[in-house]
Amino acid sequence: ARHSGTEYGSADFLVVSNRLPVDRIPTATDDGGWRRSPGGLVTALAPVMAVRDGAWVGWHGAPDETLDPFHHENMDLIPVPLSHDEVELYYEGFSNSTLWPLYHDVIAPPEFHRTWWDAYQRVNRRFAAAAAGAAAKNATVWVQDYQLQLVPRYLRQLRPDLRIGFFNHIPFPPPEIFAQLPWRQAIINGLLGADLIGFQRPNDTANFLRSARRFLGASVKAQQVHVKENDGSVSHIARAEPFPISIDVRQIQELAERPDIIARARQIRADLGNPKTILLGVDRLDYTKGITHRLKAYGELLTDGVITVQDAALIQVASPSRERVETYRLLREEVEGMVGRINGQFDTISNTAIRYLHHNYPVEEMVALYLAADVMLVTALRDGMNLVAKEYVAARSNNTGALVLSEFTGAADQLKQALLVNPHDIDGLKAIITRAIELSPAESSRRMRSMRRQILTHDVERWSQDFLTALQNEAVRDDR
Ligand code: G6P
Repeated sequence: ARHSGTEYGSADFLVVSNRLPVDRIPTATDDGGWRRSPGGLVTALAPVMAVRDGAWVGWHGAPDETLDPFHHENMDLIPVPLSHDEVELYYEGFSNSTLWPLYHDVIAPPEFHRTWWDAYQRVNRRFAAAAAGAAAKNATVWVQDYQLQLVPRYLRQLRPDLRIGFFNHIPFPPPEIFAQLPWRQAIINGLLGADLIGFQRPNDTANFLRSARRFLGASVKAQQVHVKENDGSVSHIARAEPFPISIDVRQIQELAERPDIIARARQIRADLGNPKTILLGVDRLDYTKGITHRLKAYGELLTDGVITVQDAALIQVASPSRERVETYRLLREEVEGMVGRINGQFDTISNTAIRYLHHNYPVEEMVALYLAADVMLVTALRDGMNLVAKEYVAARSNNTGALVLSEFTGAADQLKQALLVNPHDIDGLKAIITRAIELSPAESSRRMRSMRRQILTHDVERWSQDFLTALQNEAVRDDR
């Protein structure tokens, strides 16, 4: 009766994320041309949606375009429009030039602009309003990632009946770095609108709770924050907890066993001249991924004569990302300059040092690459999780192959038998790459078996179930 003025929607389960889980098919001429985006999140959540009368709220990826809600593969999709300016200020600006570098150890300097912050608040309000309009009474809403940290609070203000979860896919920085953000209190308050706040690592969880204590004076006990109303009374309890995300293991395994994909892997090796060792890097072209560190180490190994282009080839897939943001443009120039110099120096007519590919590939081709690669290089300087490392492990069903993995990824918490490395240490990186190339079959098999045990029992479906179960048990629901 308290909220008798509220209009309820019909969705019992809502996911809210910056991007909708569909992409326009480039060749489609009419507007029916959508296909499901690649990635584990939608795979894990689509079945939950189907069972629970769910809907997904998000931006469809084009500026200055308002679309009606539509249906795709049993999912109700509710597009949120962004103007051209909002893409610039909220998405490229505050999300990807303020929060992204700030949350990734200030690898690039974050920029703080009040106009970006204004747009971030405005757009977060719009997402919250869209979710409030779509959610049924007492529904569960799961908000995703750093672009939408104010949504939990706005949404609770609009709809106190809802059960609200939030998951941060990227790292949460230590308070000493978070302190730089002029709007640090508002961000913490925004997140505290949720009943359950999930992070990738225990460390991210601890960082968030320390910031809540330091910047809000919140009382934190056993990962719980008693969130106060303005009058000082407790409005609800917000709990913070780690839930390391994973991948759709079954999909990768099935693809890794398909004869045509196994044949494609063989073809890739042959096309590169069947070198003894193929090394592989797969990343969004992002400065957090440590691509230049990897290339530097690889170039020096060639210079040192430890490897030759006859014996080894590095395939570097760098998928295009955030191409209108200046730091990303500069990174692309730098990476392509390095690749050009290394290849110019070491390539022969028939052999290449680095096969550099600035493309997106379908998952089938990715799995063929995983099968073709003896050594996988994941050298991120900071990464919330890194799903590529997990996909490589899932694809290696015959327990061969070596994974070089940065200590600064969330995945390193789970893949303890990887060859762990500090990518800032170029000599250390060279040593571990050399070790990976020379790893004995017995040792690589022992390591891969152990990593596979971890991945096979922790897929993305389990991740989403763990989160949603915890959210269900969390919300202490009074007076309804
Ligand atoms: C990271 C973020 C996601 C984001 C993705 C691609 O994984 O955690 O929220 O969607 O990068 O970036 P983009 O800016 O293209 O959405």
